[in-house]
Amino acid sequence: GTTLRASAAEKGRYFGAAVATGKLSTSAYVTVLNREFNSVVAENEMKWDATEPQQGQFRYTGGDRLVSHAQANGMSVRGHALLWHQQEPGWAQSMSGSALRSAMINHVTQVATHFRGKIYAWDVVNEAFADGGSGGRRDSNLQRTGNDWIEAAFRAARAADPGAKLCYNDYNTDGVNAKSTGIYNMVRDFKSRGVPIDCVGFQSHLGTSLAGDYQANLQRFADLGVDVQITELDVMTGGNQATIYGAVTRACMNVSRCTGITVWGVRDCDSWRGSDNALLFDCNGNKKAAYTNVLNAL
Ligand code: XIL
Repeated sequence: GTTLRASAAEKGRYFGAAVATGKLSTSAYVTVLNREFNSVVAENEMKWDATEPQQGQFRYTGGDRLVSHAQANGMSVRGHALLWHQQEPGWAQSMSGSALRSAMINHVTQVATHFRGKIYAWDVVNEAFADGGSGGRRDSNLQRTGNDWIEAAFRAARAADPGAKLCYNDYNTDGVNAKSTGIYNMVRDFKSRGVPIDCVGFQSHLGTSLAGDYQANLQRFADLGVDVQITELDVMTGGNQATIYGAVTRACMNVSRCTGITVWGVRDCDSWRGSDNALLFDCNGNKKAAYTNVLNAL
């Protein structure tokens, strides 16, 4: 194919971008988005602070707008993210214990129900594991409600939208390391006990090198019986940027259960990483060397 979306589709995959819904009225942005991508995820608009700014008062304006854009342009939608310790609304930040547990589960149920039938895969839980060598959970008010909060969230999401794939999503999981192994052990445990999990997202916010066992790590998760997805790919500028983009794409293509790749923005100037110029298009929407490497690897 001559575009990312066509080439990915030929291989039974999607190629997606994170979208700030406000940019859907910028024609230069939408031109690239619609031409190159067949999947979208909301960069912020489906997070807890955006969707439930006051407890029990739900706001779906941004998310609904993105879903309509996707449906009108043949794109699937990743949902991001039902529960995350960051971008919690203020009212939830100050809660704990059983009151927070109820509020969390209600949030999962309400949001997944609102978007039922429209989401290809939900990041049910985002970034729950600690960095470093412990392989354990990150401390947060969510974690302090009890270690079973993640499985409770997955069960609630399945009940609310049985058609969506349910993913666990995290960063610094780009090779076999203590953090990715902690997640691996959780997924293995969930599969053995019938906790509904379908996929693992590897954010892949990358620096100037790629772990040599990046593909092997994806494969060991796939071998547990879950899909894997590259969910927030961006790569720091440097001599290696195009090479790393190509290698990540090849790794996904080499793993049959790697169902798609999402980059965390369209043009360099759309990126949360600012001066890293971490994406596939420059600020004018021109294709970079990284784009060519990705297209050739699809
Ligand atoms: C980032 C957004 O890109 C920013 O606009 C926002 O200010 C902070 O969050 N991991 C995630 C994403 O799972 O939701 C984050 O997105 C980037 C890191």
